[in-house]
Amino acid sequence: MNRRGFIGGLGGLIATAALPGCRTDEPSVFSQRGNFERLALGYAHIKVGATAPFSLLHISDTHLTSVYDDESDVKQKLAKIRTQTFGGCQEEALRDSLAWAKSNVDFVVHTGDLIDFQSRENLDLVKKYFGTGAAKVASAGNHEFSPEMWMSAVKEEHTEAYKDRTRKDLQAAFPYDLQFNATVVNGVNFIAMDDVYGYVPPACVEKFHAEVKKGLPIVLCMHVPFYTDGIWRANTKFWTSSAQHGKPNFFRTAAVPDARGDYVAQQQDPVTREFIAYLKSEKLLKGILAGHLHITIQDRFSPTAMQYVVGGNFLFHGQEVLFT
Ligand SMILES: [Fe+2]
Repeated sequence: MNRRGFIGGLGGLIATAALPGCRTDEPSVFSQRGNFERLALGYAHIKVGATAPFSLLHISDTHLTSVYDDESDVKQKLAKIRTQTFGGCQEEALRDSLAWAKSNVDFVVHTGDLIDFQSRENLDLVKKYFGTGAAKVASAGNHEFSPEMWMSAVKEEHTEAYKDRTRKDLQAAFPYDLQFNATVVNGVNFIAMDDVYGYVPPACVEKFHAEVKKGLPIVLCMHVPFYTDGIWRANTKFWTSSAQHGKPNFFRTAAVPDARGDYVAQQQDPVTREFIAYLKSEKLLKGILAGHLHITIQDRFSPTAMQYVVGGNFLFHGQEVLFT
């Protein structure tokens, strides 16, 4: 059986003998709908003072889970488990998104977790899809830095030293600097920055301040959102309800749940805490595009900037953002 041969059904996951589509050029998901209606798109408008109007497709969290047959047993096991987790049509979702973008938007922004874990085939897919410049702006996600997730003999640590273990090989597959890159489009400076474990590395803060000196309006693109009360509340609700496997989990209060994980890092890491406080008063910041949460939510970050979190591309989600 093809390890990608899983489709959702009334009885749960059903193994299929030969998987139609998914890794072919023919659409398999909602194939009869055509005209790219297979994408679930949100819409936003950022009034940024662009020299001419344009729009982009923001996608995130594709979570490719491919391995070649000769890769290690651990990677084969991981691919099997994680392909079930993400549905098996992540490559088709990415392909649909990039194809739609060609005739509908000026460029694509991807905010990380393009791959679910490091494998030779996943990195080849990065080169195949992004090597041609299909995504003009992109940032890394936490999964980009994970060789074998929980199955690794080396425990994942949320540090620069941990990222350095695989940074060189990972970086070789991507056509832009995964730590920090800046691209100006119609007078708008799109800054893609590494914050994959919640904290912002000091080098990124330094580079950001250098970009501010250009005096252009800035849109910050990164994997983990800078949590606001609204984003943290929704994120906690969504992931708690997933963890409870169907037990009731209704909103009965608008209280903000206690910070955990990435949010604690943002509150406790002094560099990140200061950077976020500074950003809230930086008038050139006009918007933040982020992912990681697998939910779509918009919330105000600062007087001049809204934050837009996009749902998982593995579920064919994306958002078109208009800039004027
Ligand atoms: Fe993530």
